[in-house]
Amino acid sequence: MKIAVIGTGYVGLVSGTCFAEWGNTVVCVDKNAEKIAQLKQGKLPIYEPGLEKLVLRNHATGRLVFTTSITEAMAGADVVFIAVGTPPRPGHGDADLSFVYGAAKEIAQAMENHAVVVVKSTVPVGTGDAVEKIIATIRPKGSFSVASNPEFLREGSAIDDFLFPDRVVIGIEDDVAREKMAVLYGPLADAKTPIVITQRRAAELIKYASNAFLATKITFINELADLCEQVGTDVGELALGIGLDHRIGRAFLKAGPGYGGSCFPKDTLALLRTAQDYGVALRVVEETVAANEARKRRMALKVLDAVGGDVDGLTIAVLGLTFKPDTDDMREAPSLALIETLQRFGANIQAHDPVGMENAARILENVAMFDDPYECVRNADAVVVVTEWESIRQLDLYRLKQAMRSAIMIDLRNAFGRGAAQAAGFHVTSIGQPVPQLSGIISGDVHAASDHRPVSHAVLTGT
Ligand code: UDX
Repeated sequence: MKIAVIGTGYVGLVSGTCFAEWGNTVVCVDKNAEKIAQLKQGKLPIYEPGLEKLVLRNHATGRLVFTTSITEAMAGADVVFIAVGTPPRPGHGDADLSFVYGAAKEIAQAMENHAVVVVKSTVPVGTGDAVEKIIATIRPKGSFSVASNPEFLREGSAIDDFLFPDRVVIGIEDDVAREKMAVLYGPLADAKTPIVITQRRAAELIKYASNAFLATKITFINELADLCEQVGTDVGELALGIGLDHRIGRAFLKAGPGYGGSCFPKDTLALLRTAQDYGVALRVVEETVAANEARKRRMALKVLDAVGGDVDGLTIAVLGLTFKPDTDDMREAPSLALIETLQRFGANIQAHDPVGMENAARILENVAMFDDPYECVRNADAVVVVTEWESIRQLDLYRLKQAMRSAIMIDLRNAFGRGAAQAAGFHVTSIGQPVPQLSGIISGDVHAASDHRPVSHAVLTGT
């Protein structure tokens, strides 16, 4: 099949490349001429494990082509995907659809034969109808279908998620689209992957509902982690005990500093906005959003508690900055709220991330970045683990401890086994595990360098 993909962002590039991998001819279009020039040279605008190899391979065979011309991409295309961004509108929370509608107009102008126009961008219910109307207005006699085919790709494992998904969701309103999409996803049907064919509106809503459910699941275990800390038990055991009930499932029960990223925060807000428009209350999702925001800010409290109440004048080392491992994405990363809060309370921040420091430096100010994690913790009064990169998990705890001024570790991902960190001499505060007592365990006086001014929790939490 010949496929056009509009937008070479995360979703467009991964999807286009994987469709080419299945043997289709794919033309990826983007207005950004520099991005296209770079892609033609095999340089990728994003970090995603395994993607570069696939792009180079398919580009070399001519199955994957990059262009700035939508007309060139549309020539003879059976299916055209809209995979442009839908960022949240500032101050509104709903998705900005101007790029989607812009793409629909350009498709209408460039359309030759029958085309199946597929919206892959995450869009609110009813966007497919709007896209159909835009194209029909420009090409009243044009022959086309509009389908919805949301993606469920996770950053860091997007290639596997595309090639071996749990399911594919396709929202269609006519038989031509059904046939073409069936051919396109034939390789997955052969592999017995469920292909769920729905109405277009259902497909649009499935994407938001999936993300809201997962965000809620994470928030649930995070709140239970707080309870575990207070009652003196371990959230890991709790998660295992409940997760083995197949109705609950073990995935997404890893307690941490709160979810971040480009999808969960944006999509939960957009879903709430849609519900509001239709006069429906989604209270569970509302609470999830509020609890997660508060949690990210509250993580600074854990650091304060661990060092005895005051970070003013202390040096805090942060290991891991991106919102999760295997990505350079800093969007809504819990590290941002944590670092900004600690800085407001007078801490000096030294940070390390294997891939995300360049992006982090664009957002954070006055943070000393270190390529070497051992240099990052040198003379630090406490080390905070925010992202559980494998390279961070593998660090030598004895070396880390030796480089530091004190022995305080706040492990917001339980990345190091608590026992191992304690064996190396660390005083560990973790997530969802009994809160340790300070006395007699720390080596060195963390407040020797500063006048001790305890900060009220109420100030930080805004209560
Ligand atoms: C998510 C969805 O998983 C994906 O299907 C959708 O297409 C896009 O949004 P992504 O944002 O890449 O993917 O990352 P994901 O792995 O889902 O993690 C999101 C956030 O939740 C991260 O901050 C992660 O650290 C956090 N998380 C995830 C937890 O805190 N605990 C968990 O158990 C799982």
